[in-house]
Amino acid sequence: GTAAGGTSEGPKALDELVVGFAQVGAESGWRTANTKDIQAAFKDADIELKFSDAQQKQENQIKAIRSYIQQGVDYIAFSPVVETGWDAVLNEAKAAGIPVVLTDRAVDSKDDSLYVTFLGSDFIEEGKKAGEWVVDEFADADKVNIVQLEGTTGAAPAIDRAEGFAEVIGADDKFEIVASQTGDFTRAGGKQVMEAMLKSNPDIDLVYAHNDDMGLGAIEAIEAAGLVPGKDIKIVTVDAVHDGMQALADGKINFIVECSPLLGKQLVDVISTLNDGGTPEKRIVTEETTFTQEQAVEALPDRQY
Ligand code: AHR
Repeated sequence: GTAAGGTSEGPKALDELVVGFAQVGAESGWRTANTKDIQAAFKDADIELKFSDAQQKQENQIKAIRSYIQQGVDYIAFSPVVETGWDAVLNEAKAAGIPVVLTDRAVDSKDDSLYVTFLGSDFIEEGKKAGEWVVDEFADADKVNIVQLEGTTGAAPAIDRAEGFAEVIGADDKFEIVASQTGDFTRAGGKQVMEAMLKSNPDIDLVYAHNDDMGLGAIEAIEAAGLVPGKDIKIVTVDAVHDGMQALADGKINFIVECSPLLGKQLVDVISTLNDGGTPEKRIVTEETTFTQEQAVEALPDRQY
């Protein structure tokens, strides 16, 4: 039969489909929630899901994708750990007739025939929302020293969240990013980088962390230095996972830009559209909001993750 499904033989029954998913890792609360949601959505839809965890290493993800190609799965979905370096393996999938869906993160490739659709957040927009909050919050300040905890080097959300943020705060030169380093989207990474930054920068006004986990690590470092997170040093993060929202409600984080990990249902919809012979939109953007401390207190009891 045809690997793409839905052509000469018509759609397959959902319980005959096999999808291979190559996940980034388990680096953050966001990622864990994302994995759970995807696994649950496929289980609900009765579609077989082969799952692999690349432990934040591109070579592991490439291996996993190659193994899915070899096993002849019907579809491959993956969240690319970094943006570049995918053309070779994606061409192999294309040659095998296996459609690829990008979830959560994009690839940087000139050839957009290498994937069917990209389903996930607008990370530049997230960075802008963080920047807009900072501009408002520090409207009366003369000088604002900012440290940035970057996500995984080369990852779409790290690149785009830095870009969107810089664009907004760049309009006023009172804002200065005095230090910017990767904490690899982990709590331990955020803590370690923040400890070093506190030592070399005596006068930090704000931490912009590319995800909640690094912000939570930064809180530990700030408290260990005898300072009060959310007061002496303000903190803005991205994600709005449970522990981040709790810290926001507790006043230790000041603002969170939401990035939704709940992509499972939409991914299943994309797969069934393809199976039915349809064409999903090339770009499916996740809907997201932002949270103040008051909004976090209100939202926390109903959060799913
Ligand atoms: O790609 C999404 C990002 O990856 C999340 O914001 C971060 O927490 C995760 O590790």
